[in-house]
Amino acid sequence: MAAFYSDELVSEIVAANDIVDIVSAYVRLKRSGSSYMGCCPFHREKTPSFHVSADKQLYHCFGCGAGGSVIQFIMNAEGLDFPDALRFLADRAGIRLPEDGGNANEERHSRKKQIYAMNRDAARFFRECLLSPEGEAAQTYLTKRGLSGKTIAAFGIGLSPSGWDGLLKHLQKKGYDRSLMVEAGLCVQNEKGHTYDRFRSRVMFPIIDVRGNIIGFGGRILSGDGAKYMNSPESIVYDKGKNLFALNIAKKSGRGYYILVEGYMDVISLHQAGINAAVAGCGTALTREQARLIAKSPVYLCYDSDEAGMKACERAAEIFKEFETKLRVVTIPDGKDADEFIKKHGGEAFEELLKKAKTVTEHRLDMLLRDVDLNDASQKIEMMGKAAKLFSGISNAVEREIYIERLAAKSGISAQSINSEVRKVNAKNIRKEVSGELRKTVGTAQGGQKPRRRSLAEASLLSMLAESEKVYLKFADEFTPDSFSEDIHKQIFNHICTYYKESIGGSCADYLLKALPGNEKEVSTVLMAVQNVENEMQAAHDFAEVLRNEIFDEKLQKAQSEGDIALISELLKSKKQKG
Ligand code: CTP
Ligand code: MN
Repeated sequence: MAAFYSDELVSEIVAANDIVDIVSAYVRLKRSGSSYMGCCPFHREKTPSFHVSADKQLYHCFGCGAGGSVIQFIMNAEGLDFPDALRFLADRAGIRLPEDGGNANEERHSRKKQIYAMNRDAARFFRECLLSPEGEAAQTYLTKRGLSGKTIAAFGIGLSPSGWDGLLKHLQKKGYDRSLMVEAGLCVQNEKGHTYDRFRSRVMFPIIDVRGNIIGFGGRILSGDGAKYMNSPESIVYDKGKNLFALNIAKKSGRGYYILVEGYMDVISLHQAGINAAVAGCGTALTREQARLIAKSPVYLCYDSDEAGMKACERAAEIFKEFETKLRVVTIPDGKDADEFIKKHGGEAFEELLKKAKTVTEHRLDMLLRDVDLNDASQKIEMMGKAAKLFSGISNAVEREIYIERLAAKSGISAQSINSEVRKVNAKNIRKEVSGELRKTVGTAQGGQKPRRRSLAEASLLSMLAESEKVYLKFADEFTPDSFSEDIHKQIFNHICTYYKESIGGSCADYLLKALPGNEKEVSTVLMAVQNVENEMQAAHDFAEVLRNEIFDEKLQKAQSEGDIALISELLKSKKQKG
């Protein structure tokens, strides 16, 4: 039955959780007055359109439209329904939920405690099994993989027996209910209601949270067919996306950073080699929640060097970017994983790899160069395009230059050419951003604001002139710098004329950006004023007509206010003739 909470209680819980505090845990917010802005966590964006009001205790994203109170925020951010979001916030504020809510909470809490205790008993059982005669083959296997008895003990590694109900019987003797075993994922119930052990003949790795509770198990197959790993399912104690394997140990490593690897075995090998800052996801792609657990410290990404590993690495880099984590990418030679590398070369060699770890950009550049045949012109050009995109994302000029020089040295393309490609990408990016802004302002312009309408007509016509020489030739005689009301528009008009008259090479957009340094934003506002036009000439005609009318209205108004009757009648006559 769904819990029902009174309006008062809901208000109390909302009041006890300041929205700015809550949102700040998920989004980097910048303050402006009593409101805050950041990048929306619910859709991808580069320019912040996510607003949080401390006064109103509300949030709203002007990009995707998400919005509401702290409750809706938590529902969205944590993927919870209303009662669970409320519980989440009540817990955080130390507010006890009453009646069945309170009982449900307590009942949940005690069930969690029972599962922790049961998991601990299961781990002991697995360990005894490993040390028993039945565990001989498994012990040989672990020894062959280079694990010492000390490491095996430290990680609580065990073995699940080969029978169908060894663990079940053991836990039953200890007094646990079958339903709890099923709930915790240690046992499975089939359609007939028959219950049996989930893990059989597998090397068992307990997954331990930062408080030291065993929340689940990963089980590696020893031999034969079947999935290499079988893992505990999610349960009330185990949320895969919120835990990292060995974080409980790595947190105390004192190294001040973390090493994120792919597998249990990688973590264990690294720890055995004394590199105890290693953690791993538990068979799922890295989540934001997991990243957040370690994002405040520097993180070394150490994924396998195969295709899948590289993809995972890219994904992880994207996720950590949001937290502005200091990232390094470790490349393991010969396509090995961390475990294989350590086994072959030892811990010190791995420490060397850490020292040689690259920045994400360096790594991406290496990947681009790795896959390209520099003797093939088209491949080289394609690589150049990708590199330019990569570099354009670097806002630090010195850093950008370093990478550009590096690419120049490695590819034989001149730094100058690379620079020019990067500038092109930058110009394009600015245009894209501005077009979004313009779309927003057009809405208000249609509200009848005269100056705005004129400015838009000017910008739109200019963008068509810049786009097509045909359009330019058609309108060049009719319009002059004086036709434009804004100074920057006059300048742009002049430069467009120069561009065509002097047959300057390259695109008109590039020329304008170069000709008007420091005005990139204005220039791109104009260049992006109109997009995806099918018939440029027709569009230009339309914009020109709007502009003519605007100019006419302005003249007429001026004549009227000055009482210049002769001019008024002349204007009206000329209008009639044309109309
Ligand atoms: N994994 C999983 N299920 C699988 C395969 C992998 O859950 N069928 C998860 C495990 O957490 C594993 C990680 O993905 O640790 C990395 O997989 P892999 O590199 O294949 O495993 P290793 O840990 O390297 O194991 P081993 O060295 O024993 O092959
Ligand atoms: Mn491995």
